[in-house]
Amino acid sequence: MKRRILDILKSRNEIISGEQISDILGVSRVTVWKHIKGLREMGYGIASTPKGYRLENDFDVLSPWEFPGREKSIHCFSEIGSTMDAAREMARKGCPHLTVVAAERQGKGRGRLDRAWVSEKGGLYFTLIIRPEIPPQLSFRFNFCASWALAQTLREDFDIPAMVKWPNDILVKDCKLVGMLSEMETRSDMVSFVNIGIGVNVNNDTVGIEPPAVSMQELTGRKSSRAELLSAFLDRFEKRTGQIGQGDDLEKIVSDWKKYTGTIGRGVRIVTVNETVEGEAVDVDETGALLLRLHDGKIRKIIYGDCFY
Ligand code: BTN
Repeated sequence: MKRRILDILKSRNEIISGEQISDILGVSRVTVWKHIKGLREMGYGIASTPKGYRLENDFDVLSPWEFPGREKSIHCFSEIGSTMDAAREMARKGCPHLTVVAAERQGKGRGRLDRAWVSEKGGLYFTLIIRPEIPPQLSFRFNFCASWALAQTLREDFDIPAMVKWPNDILVKDCKLVGMLSEMETRSDMVSFVNIGIGVNVNNDTVGIEPPAVSMQELTGRKSSRAELLSAFLDRFEKRTGQIGQGDDLEKIVSDWKKYTGTIGRGVRIVTVNETVEGEAVDVDETGALLLRLHDGKIRKIIYGDCFY
C-alpha cells in the first residue's frame, strides 16, 4: 500500500487530497493517513496542507523502491549492528548473486584490522554479496573491481576527483571518502560467496574521524542521493564483471584500477596484524599484491594490510 501511495504522489507534482488517494486505492482515509505516516518514517518528505499531501523530497531515501529492477535484491535497514553480519547470514542461507544489505546506521560498523567504522546517519553503508564461480585465489579481482567501479562512478557521475588507495580505499586529497573490506567463504576449493562491505561518507559529518576523512557533501557543497550513487555503482560493477564465469572478464581489472591510483610512487607504511613495514610503493602486480621497495633497496611483496601514506 505504501508503495502505491508513493507512486501516486510521485506521478503528480501537485497536491493531492487524502480523499482522492483513498478513492483511487479503494481504502479509507485513515488507512491513507497511516501509510503516509509510515512513508515519512522511512524518510520521504511529504507535506500536509489543508488541501492534501505533496511529495517534497525523495532524493535521499534508501528503500528498495528507489532501485527499479533491483527491488527484490536490495534489503534496507534503518538500524543494524553491521551489514557484514546480516549479509553473511543471508549468504549462508543461499541468497542470490548481487544481493545488497544496506543500512541507514550501524551500531557496530566494522573496519579493516578489527577497527570500528563510525556509521552515522547520512552515510552509505552496505554489503554486496556476490557468488562468482571462481577459485578463492581469484577473488581479489572482484574487490579491485568494486573499488574501480565506485571510483569511476564518483568521478564520472558526481565530478569528484576520487583516487584509489591500495588495497581498496578511495581518497580525495588524501582524506578518506570510502572504506572497503571483504569476507569470503569457500566450498570444495571454490568460492561460495564474497561479501564486499563498503562505507561511503556521503552526507554525514566527518569531523573527528581518524584517519582524516571527507564526505561528498563537503567536497561538492551539496547533498547527494545515496540511492543514485549505489544504483550507479551496482550498474557499473555488474557490467564490468559481466556473466560470472571464471572471472576471465576481469583479467585487466588491476591495470584499469591502477589508472586511478595515487599509491604507486608514494612512501607508505603498511600495517598488518603482525608487523609494520615502510618503504616506497613501486607497483601493484597482476595478483593485486603491493610491491614495496624497502629502505635497503630490496623489493617485498605485500599481499594484505592497511596502507598509510
Ligand atoms: C576500512 O576502511 O577499514 C573498511 C571500512 C568498511 C566499512 C563498511 S560500512 C558497510 C560494511 N559494514 C561494516 O560493518 N563495515 C563495512
